[in-house]
Amino acid sequence: MTDSGFGVEIMGMDLAALDAACEHKLRRAFIDHGGLIVVRDQELNDPADLCRFAALFGALEQNDKYDPDFLLPGFPEILRIGNVVENGRYSALFIRADPPPLLWHCDDSFRDPQPVGSCLYCLSAPASGGETGFAGMTAAYEALPDQVKTRIDNLYTIHSYHHLNELLRIGNPHRPPLTDKLRRDHPAVRRPLVARHPATGRKSLYLPLCHIESVEGLPDHEGRELLEELLSYATGNRFTHFQHWRPGDLVLWDNRCTLHAPTPFDEQQYTRLMYRLTVTGAQIAGF
Ligand SMILES: [Fe+2]
Repeated sequence: MTDSGFGVEIMGMDLAALDAACEHKLRRAFIDHGGLIVVRDQELNDPADLCRFAALFGALEQNDKYDPDFLLPGFPEILRIGNVVENGRYSALFIRADPPPLLWHCDDSFRDPQPVGSCLYCLSAPASGGETGFAGMTAAYEALPDQVKTRIDNLYTIHSYHHLNELLRIGNPHRPPLTDKLRRDHPAVRRPLVARHPATGRKSLYLPLCHIESVEGLPDHEGRELLEELLSYATGNRFTHFQHWRPGDLVLWDNRCTLHAPTPFDEQQYTRLMYRLTVTGAQIAGF
């Protein structure tokens, strides 16, 4: 789906009726195309089908850190994401997306184990806006000039859930501060800036900028400047796919070698609702 070979769209597959050959092809495609697969026109009326699909890529995670009201009743693995309101409050996790600069991230880089894959299944989408951008960090790393690779190969960054939460609270006043328990459960952690994928052995930029407090060993302004420059390069057209959602779309991505970012939409006019599942598995080196 991109000039750099990142991302693949899969046609003619019914995810509610997969056989072993299809399952193998899906797993292969996920690894071979930089960790992004898009499947359109799915009618997954039974949420168990969605769970079965996601479980092809790793063990399903629970959603302990979220408000239980945001989970699909009977399916604690499924987190509802969107601007759905019931009885005067959000019944899904709603994170208001800002206009550019977009909030490029991978899911939960600040926890261990990190979800290695995340998938979104679209139930309702705005007629305009509310897209998700995906950026391929393996292709972006490999296309860097050698002197930049040498400069960044051994750098480490500090990731923090608290840092992210405070950033999100600026545009989402309905979002509470982290509880003491969540802060204790998610202390700041050290991550490599260049990560090696455990399945492919290929290197990627590991750059969820909104989770990163600092670059180890660099003054704040210098670290920030370096990361912003790298992110702006790595989220250019060559490396990105923007998903214009339609109900029935399903997208699965690899948090170890991709970034994603939501784009804003008119939340008074449109409803956006997604089911999200995350899976765990082999972590990148340095975690
Ligand atoms: Fe995300």
